[in-house]
Amino acid sequence: MPPTPAMHVARADTGPRSPMTAADWVSPLIAGLHWLQWHALQALAALGAIDAVAGQPGWPLDWRVSGEHLLIDAPNARRLAFGVLALMIAAGLAGMAVVCRRRRGWLLGAAAALPVFAPWPDPAVVLVPAHPTSFHRSPTGFSAHAIVAGHTLYETHCAACHGATGRGDGPVATQQPVWPPDFIGPLLWRRGDGDLFWHIREGVTDRHGRETMPGFGRMLNDTEVWQLIDFLRAQSAGQSLRLAGAWRHPIRLPASAIDCAGQSSSTDVRPWLGQRLRLVAPAAGQPMPIEDPRLVTIALVAPSHGAASAVGAERHAERHADCRIDDASAWAALALVTGDAPLADRQWLVDRAGWLRAVSAPGSRGWSDDDLVCRSERSDRPEASAGARRDPRDGLDGLGRLLATIDADPVRLVRDGRVH
Ligand code: HEC
Repeated sequence: MPPTPAMHVARADTGPRSPMTAADWVSPLIAGLHWLQWHALQALAALGAIDAVAGQPGWPLDWRVSGEHLLIDAPNARRLAFGVLALMIAAGLAGMAVVCRRRRGWLLGAAAALPVFAPWPDPAVVLVPAHPTSFHRSPTGFSAHAIVAGHTLYETHCAACHGATGRGDGPVATQQPVWPPDFIGPLLWRRGDGDLFWHIREGVTDRHGRETMPGFGRMLNDTEVWQLIDFLRAQSAGQSLRLAGAWRHPIRLPASAIDCAGQSSSTDVRPWLGQRLRLVAPAAGQPMPIEDPRLVTIALVAPSHGAASAVGAERHAERHADCRIDDASAWAALALVTGDAPLADRQWLVDRAGWLRAVSAPGSRGWSDDDLVCRSERSDRPEASAGARRDPRDGLDGLGRLLATIDADPVRLVRDGRVH
């Protein structure tokens, strides 16, 4: 089995210039291949040549080109890049042959020869098994509501084998033909949503065609399967924070309605992209922190347990905040990604691209570098940023230093070899 590719890579813009890594140039190649396949699929569907599966065009082949292994296999990645380049030149030559009559023979010959003699990569490296739903996109938008709905479904249908926290230690796990996977591991993050969808709906078989996990297509509808996938990712993030003290795989802020000065936004996070967000769950009786021009502060309203807590003197500071999220599912989803820890008196930072990056300890009144729990592998290593140069963050306060680090170390999530 090939080693797992680095799942969270980031450009280290701070510190001495680092050499370009394979991820820097392979990522656009992989993204381009995915783009091509996805658009070819949509074009064929628009022409009516392809049937829909679960509401989206079904991938017709049992393999697809994937970049999953290219990030760790530079020679094959280079061959693929040359192959793609040869194809593009061949297409250009063929185009010239159409307009240029005199050299048509030569041009067509060269166009045909180029792809034949191009150094193509080993097919076993770039072709991976595919399912009809491999290119499907989740319609849920990673919403807090979907995560919470997925949680209930998980407890009913999956926990017996996969365990209450997804570690693969449910009460009937030992009776399965193979051990259910530990969802904190890399598996969930290597798979695209579409492949996970297929495995949950249709089941999993081993190489001899023997069923290792039953399919749930008859018991669950498509929306429920997508909700389960969101839940699995949220749970995995929370458990990795609880056990390893970090979100090993980046996780987005679960989407929910954000109400700013009485104007409620939809549950889509897109209007907020481009701004840094600070989520605050104040402890009972504590005031909200002072607004800070570097970010948008949003109060997370605790779900009211019984009518009494929502009235009169019991009304909390967050109810008067300029921006707030007042949605019990948002609270539950955030509790899940924070590893089931108590939320009151905590804060979270969300970067401009919508990724959750830092979480403060309850009751802490300032930020420090230790609160950054989603960071790239490179910034984990102090020598990557240590150097003779002056630290550009000198003179900033804790929050300023943290924001500078986050901005300089953007998340580039690699899933299925694809950088999002
Ligand atoms: C009867 C036990 C059992 C139940 C119930 C079960 N699973 Fe599984 N699941 C397994 C086993 C065993 C595997 C490992 C299969 C393998 O690797 O061949 C697995 C694998 C998986 C995988 C990884 C598939 C992949 O891409 O390799 C996912 C995701 C998953 N299960 C999700 C679920 C969800 C969601 C539910 C509930 C709807 C569920 N499972 C219910 C036993 C179970």
